[in-house]
Amino acid sequence: MSSFWSGWVMFLVVLNLGVTLFLFVWAQVVKIPTQPDGTSGHVWGGSVREGVRRLPTWWVILSASMFVATITYLVLYPGFGARKGLIGWTAHGQLATEIAENDLKLAPVLKDFDSRGIEQLAASPQATGMGYRLFVDNCAACHGLQGRGGAAVGAPDLTDSDWLWGGTPDAITKTILDGRTGVMPPMGAAVGSTEDVRNVAQYVLSLSAWPHDSVRANLGRAKFVACAACHGPDGKGNPALGAPNLTYDKRLYGSGAATIEKTITEGRTGTMPAWRQRLGETDVRLITAWVYAQSHTSAQAPGR
Ligand code: HEC
Ligand code: HEC
Repeated sequence: MSSFWSGWVMFLVVLNLGVTLFLFVWAQVVKIPTQPDGTSGHVWGGSVREGVRRLPTWWVILSASMFVATITYLVLYPGFGARKGLIGWTAHGQLATEIAENDLKLAPVLKDFDSRGIEQLAASPQATGMGYRLFVDNCAACHGLQGRGGAAVGAPDLTDSDWLWGGTPDAITKTILDGRTGVMPPMGAAVGSTEDVRNVAQYVLSLSAWPHDSVRANLGRAKFVACAACHGPDGKGNPALGAPNLTYDKRLYGSGAATIEKTITEGRTGTMPAWRQRLGETDVRLITAWVYAQSHTSAQAPGR
């Protein structure tokens, strides 16, 4: 708050409080001249005489305590312009204290989590519950609220047993901590003509038993050698490169022939951001536990 606005707020507070306090005090001490009959002598409409009554004591006490409370508050707490208040209370400070208290309470729980393996954590509803809340805050924008994936950014389904980079506890932890980038280079030139690209796309469809043109698929099979280095001779993928398993019927980028042709000619780059800096290892292990539990049904799986 600039000193002008601070001064302005102080001025308004003093003015308002001053005027009301003055009226309140004045009403206690002012002597209203009364007639012998106890009225003010003013007659309304020719017949109603105006009486003079003191304010009831309970009202006076209530009003006085309101003034005391207001002034005490303005002395102790922020509110009088930019003044900080005697006890130095701030909303930020209170939040920080509450967070610190909460961290202190959580510390033994988290320490215990750190000493347990991912499989064990995946079986603990407390750990996966915390993991799921972190997942919703940080991951759901790309992977969906239930972790089922999002084709817009090529974010994979995390609840199935098909993995780009491997589904062991260690592989999943590494993926989340350090991120991953899957690069499929443009392959149009390596495959040949547009016709060849269409044929290979039909072959890719045939790998996962999607409806396809079998004549084209047979022609495309021969061209698949260009792809085998990464996707494997039978198209089952390679977790060392993050090359997807093309025999699995759920795709990162959609399953239409046109989408696959686009992938072949233009290539794709799928980027999973790194979380080590942002979340730290303890939180990442909790999220890993939740992710692991989704694809391993014997474990607990809240949020499904
Ligand atoms: C900006 C979007 C985005 C966000 C946010 C994001 N991811 Fe990803 N994630 C991706 C993409 C894209 C891939 C696929 C990377 C590739 O193509 O190799 C991926 C891949 C993964 C994989 C590898 C899956 C596999 O099959 O091997 C895991 C596990 C994963 N993400 C978990 C998470 C978790 C947990 C979070 C939150 C902490 C998260 N992601 C946040 C986009 C995102
Ligand atoms: C250099 C390694 C490499 C080569 C060669 C390669 N790919 Fe890929 N391909 C990848 C990677 C890595 C991805 C995942 C890209 C991503 O994460 O966004 C991918 C993704 C794809 C996808 C998308 C899968 C999905 O789930 O949506 C298709 C389809 C595909 N490749 C087909 C092919 C075909 C057909 C060829 C041969 C013409 C080929 N790839 C050659 C590495 C390769």
